[in-house]
Amino acid sequence: MTLPFSQSCENNKDPILSIVCRHFDKAGNVLEIAGGTGQHAVHFATHLPHLHWQSSDIPGNLDTLRPRITLAALPNLPAPVSFDVTQERFDLAPVDYVFSANSLHIMPAAAVTHFFRHLRALLKPGGTLCVYGPFKYEGKFTTDSNAQFDQWLKQRNPDSGIRDFETINALAQEAGMSLLEDNAMPANNQLLVFRKSGTP
Ligand SMILES: C[S@@+](CC[C@H](N)C(=O)[O-])C[C@H]1O[C@@H](n2cnc3c(N)ncnc32)[C@H](O)[C@@H]1O
Repeated sequence: MTLPFSQSCENNKDPILSIVCRHFDKAGNVLEIAGGTGQHAVHFATHLPHLHWQSSDIPGNLDTLRPRITLAALPNLPAPVSFDVTQERFDLAPVDYVFSANSLHIMPAAAVTHFFRHLRALLKPGGTLCVYGPFKYEGKFTTDSNAQFDQWLKQRNPDSGIRDFETINALAQEAGMSLLEDNAMPANNQLLVFRKSGTP
């Protein structure tokens, strides 16, 4: 059986793990938003057995996400659930940790706002959010290749595109979070870590 595969996931999963493991360090529940091929979910659930890793994606991507997770059959990695950040209602309990990779530049700008608005309810007080992907700073791309990537994204969907770090930081603050770390990652990406106020 050929599983859905992303070479970039394969390349970035260990650099991401090396940071996520510092922040998702206590036993708890993770919600992964936009799980994609499931490569991150399987890798992180394998290496972080103290976490219950719930991956999710939009309904139209669940057939891509499910096979690798089913095959892995890990005790801390349940079947993925359907979650589109633009939906108003959902049946998801608040979690200790939220992870999402390479999603904010794919989903439309309005969906990015929904993503953070939902974290007001979905992330517990004291909870941690890790978001991985490319970002702009003060309106400037970090590299020429990210600028080209942004053009390519916008040709496919004018509402997509590399987000401004300042916009993301403001949305996170409105959702009760503050920035803990902005980690420069390989391949011109960042891993942003936010902590929600309050006591876990
Ligand atoms: C480039 S893929 C990234 C997948 C995976 N996280 C990775 O790093 O390879 C973008 C993902 O965003 C998801 N996505 C797009 N719009 C979304 C939405 N409104 N709500 C949740 N996920 C969404 C897609 O289904 C897809 O899985």
